Amino acid sequence: MSDVRKELMKPRPIFNPNGNDDPAKRGILYGDTTNIFNLNVIKYEWAPKMYRAMMANFWIPETVDLTQDVQDYKELTDDERQAYDEILSFLVFLDSIQTTNIPNIAAYVKAPEITIDLSIHAYQEAIHSQSYGYTIESVVPPEKREEVYYWWRKDPILFERNKYIADIYQKFLEEPTMENYGEVLIGNYLLEGLYFYNGFMFFYNLASRNLMQGTADIIRYINRDEFTHVILFEHFLKDLTDENFKKYLPKDKVYEMFKIAVDQEQRFSKKVIGNNILGMNEKSIEDYTYYIANDRLKRLGLEPIFPDRPNPYEHLERIADVGGEGNVKANFFEATVTSYNQASAVEGWDEI
Ligand SMILES: [Fe+2]
Ligand SMILES: [Fe+2]
Repeated sequence: MSDVRKELMKPRPIFNPNGNDDPAKRGILYGDTTNIFNLNVIKYEWAPKMYRAMMANFWIPETVDLTQDVQDYKELTDDERQAYDEILSFLVFLDSIQTTNIPNIAAYVKAPEITIDLSIHAYQEAIHSQSYGYTIESVVPPEKREEVYYWWRKDPILFERNKYIADIYQKFLEEPTMENYGEVLIGNYLLEGLYFYNGFMFFYNLASRNLMQGTADIIRYINRDEFTHVILFEHFLKDLTDENFKKYLPKDKVYEMFKIAVDQEQRFSKKVIGNNILGMNEKSIEDYTYYIANDRLKRLGLEPIFPDRPNPYEHLERIADVGGEGNVKANFFEATVTSYNQASAVEGWDEI
């Protein structure tokens, strides 16, 4: 018997004149699309809402003034400065590979209302990559910039986690099976939903002490975009379970990938932030990672398998939402997008 998980996938055609764009015959990964983006005929109601939410987030990093950050950077403790550099290094790596890989996911999607969301997703990752570059070039002294971009060359823990996710993406490029696609989707969801959240909190923590406010403003903008990416893939994955995607990607595999990601996030954050940064410590890192991971599992309709810990950074998340001129209202945004979460009738992997 042939293994369905090894089935090779076919990318969407450029033009398929004999196709049928009837939404009733459309899935995320199946269907006979002409590949004309007739966006008046849609199946996934959440997709155009996501599109509008993402487009409304448009921002440009250069509007954020980093002059004071250049001064603050000199006043940071050695540990804070090193954490600042290394977290930026990790972030610029992640968004570089996201910019490259989102189109690889999109190439197989048969619903144009989702494909255009993924185009905006990729373009936002390009803005993020460029913003990290803008931050590094503005704040970090010239002689250290190369070191920041290539920190993974000298840090085995950073290298290992960068390589882990890059290898998952690469494996699908070389062998485009349904199974490998599933791993890419979960890897992507973990990257968007779990990988850099302790790092974001580090920047909000500095901002709570009146340090590096410009950097924190850029992170707020990015954070707001990242919410949309998590929710986009939450919908994507939930609707795929409706297409019986569970046979390609068993629940055990999802849990295994979550466990690896949690372990890597905790190890990296404990090394970079550890107990040397005022307001954060190894315990809060551990708790926050478990808290986020359980939330991400629940969003997919899966059992939260990690220890049940309270969110230790509620006060920092409030800083992420601080109102006022020019600030981003992430809460407002999240309320807007989660309000249509309920629209999905599919419970996820736990159905089987
Ligand atoms: Fe990003
Ligand atoms: Fe993202």
